[in-house]
Amino acid sequence: MKEKLNEIKEVILEAARKARQETGDIPAPQDPEPFTWPINCTVGPGLEGAIASESKIGYVNGSKGWLVYRGYDIFDLCAYSTFEEVSYLLLHGHLPTTNELNEFKGKLAKYRILNKTLRIVMSFPVEEMNPMAALRLGTNMMRQEYSYMDKEVGRPKLDDAISSDEDSIPMETTPMGYANAIYEFKTNLCKNPIGMRKTLWDASNTEACYQLIAGVSTLTSAIVRLKNGHMPIEPLPGLSHAANLLYMMTGHVPDPVEERIMDIALILHADHGMNASTFASLVVASTLSDIYFSVGAGIAALNGPLHGGANEQVVHSLLDIGGLDNVKAWVKNKIENKQKIVGFGHRVYKAYDPRARILGPLAEYLVGGRSDCMQVIYQTAKRVEEEVLEQFGREKKIFPNVDFYSGIVYGCLGIPVELYTPIFAVSRVSGWTARVIEYLQKNRIFRPRAIYTGEFNKEYVPIEQRNRDV
Ligand code: CMC
Repeated sequence: MKEKLNEIKEVILEAARKARQETGDIPAPQDPEPFTWPINCTVGPGLEGAIASESKIGYVNGSKGWLVYRGYDIFDLCAYSTFEEVSYLLLHGHLPTTNELNEFKGKLAKYRILNKTLRIVMSFPVEEMNPMAALRLGTNMMRQEYSYMDKEVGRPKLDDAISSDEDSIPMETTPMGYANAIYEFKTNLCKNPIGMRKTLWDASNTEACYQLIAGVSTLTSAIVRLKNGHMPIEPLPGLSHAANLLYMMTGHVPDPVEERIMDIALILHADHGMNASTFASLVVASTLSDIYFSVGAGIAALNGPLHGGANEQVVHSLLDIGGLDNVKAWVKNKIENKQKIVGFGHRVYKAYDPRARILGPLAEYLVGGRSDCMQVIYQTAKRVEEEVLEQFGREKKIFPNVDFYSGIVYGCLGIPVELYTPIFAVSRVSGWTARVIEYLQKNRIFRPRAIYTGEFNKEYVPIEQRNRDV
């Protein structure tokens, strides 16, 4: 097993070597000069090119294809780090010490147990819902469980405590989260310092970020189980975040290779500049709403096929192609008809996406020796990549993005397609929360403008005089 873990590390280091060969060394920021607001920049539709804030969290160099979290190169983080370390890094700005990491892991383990939230989520028809809709609902329920926003009095009365029998949802495994019969309400986590606006305080609460990072993974796992007619499984305290995610979804403790691959996928998706879902989270936070609503907005934005939803669409289109022999014509047809090829192109990357540089070889590593449909899907993907690059030519600067190979990696881990986008959210919740915390330190409500291209000075016509058919 150790040998296999080393092989995986080698796959990443090789991808890093290749990236450096093609694009040069670790990039310095394009504009390191100190600047003052207001800043001049050229803005396109959809705020393309607009600079809306400062951030120390992550750096994307789109022309070179580099991605950096808090100064650390993504290739190094994937080769040597873990999702827990990376989440801590994004939130706190430095890699954790052993004590800090252990404390953080302990909190994640605690917050992964979401029985009360799950009980409420289970009263909805989750099996009929889009998993992202169910996930968004779940984060709202977490808001009810953990926050004080909608409560008159901060501290729940003892009468409000519910016996664990009443409050537990049925589990396939014995619940382990609560030793005593009475629920401990988490009052100590949600003290509202006097004199501070509740909304701002809640939105900037690091503990709430931990709850969300832990909870979104439990919710995602529970949703897939409920959709398939199974009961949710409680997390195992000793497992890592990645291993717990796989365990809670499948009921099997993953082997170290599966765990490592999942971990790398989570690291890769954790943050990515001012992308649409991060922006959506920040817009909501900037109104001094709260972090649960902010993450809910992120989930909603991530769902779309132009953003996180692309990873599911990729697998569907690779299957639709119907075999290697059809690839050339399929790509040609797409290009001729000016249709987007899902999993390609990026608003920022005009070079090979570094995340795809890692996920592609990882997918290849995982399908090696397999003769099932994942092998066929991978071979089709490879051929599609070759064709797109050849037919578009390198000067068009359309390369595979993070979503092109991620689905194949997830498929090899036995994860169903409808969960690919929720898994993106399991990871990106670290970036959303870290950026919300950072943004609120210098909060300014988002309020861009639209150019009005409509009419003026129209005279109001009463409805009885508007009969245009006559
Ligand atoms: N297939 C074919 N042509 C493309 C593609 C593509 N996937 N992406 C861009 N182009 C072409 C586009 O037709 C246009 O050509 P022309 O100049 O001849 O009109 C040119 O490239 C510029 O495209 P654009 O639409 O202005 O680029 P954008 O920055 O607005 O869009 C994008 C970025 C990601 C929305 C787009 O590339 C796309 O729709 N890709 C497919 C969906 C996808 O894979 N999304 C995942 C994005 S990465 C992960 C994430 O954000 O979650």
